[in-house]
Amino acid sequence: MTGPELYRAARAAAARAYAPYSGLRVGAAIETAGGAVHLGVNVESASYGLSICAERAALACAVTAGDLRLLRVAVACEDGRPITPCGACRQSLAEFGRDLVVVERREGAILERRLVDLLPDAFTLPG
Ligand code: THU
Repeated sequence: MTGPELYRAARAAAARAYAPYSGLRVGAAIETAGGAVHLGVNVESASYGLSICAERAALACAVTAGDLRLLRVAVACEDGRPITPCGACRQSLAEFGRDLVVVERREGAILERRLVDLLPDAFTLPG
C-alpha cells in the first residue's frame, strides 16, 4: 500500500470516530508486514481522561489480531487538517519497534517520518 493509500484509509476511518466532546474526529491505519491494515478511531468518554486516541485504538486491533510486525501508521483528521501522533501514542507505538514509519499529510503532501525521529528517547524499562 502506498503512503497516500494508507493515509486515505485512516481518513475514511475517521468518519466513525466517537468524538462528541472535542469534535476532533481522528482515524488511524496501521500496516503490518503481512500486508494487513488495522484501523482505529478516537473514542471519547464523558469522563474526558478516559478517551483513547485513534492510533492506540488501531494498535489494540493489530495486537488483538496477533499481528505485531508493524510497518507504518497513518493518522488523519476527518476533515483533512494536519495531525501528528501525541506523545502518549508515540510511546505506545515505540513498544512495537523504532523502525515504524508515521504517515501524515502536511500542506497537501504525504509526509513519512520514522518514529525514532519523532520520539528519539523513548522510555524503556531500566536494566
Ligand atoms: N487524538 C487522537 O486520536 N490522536 C492523537 O494523536 C491526538 C489526539 C484525539 C483524542 C481526543 O479524542 C481528540 O483527539 C482531541 O484531543
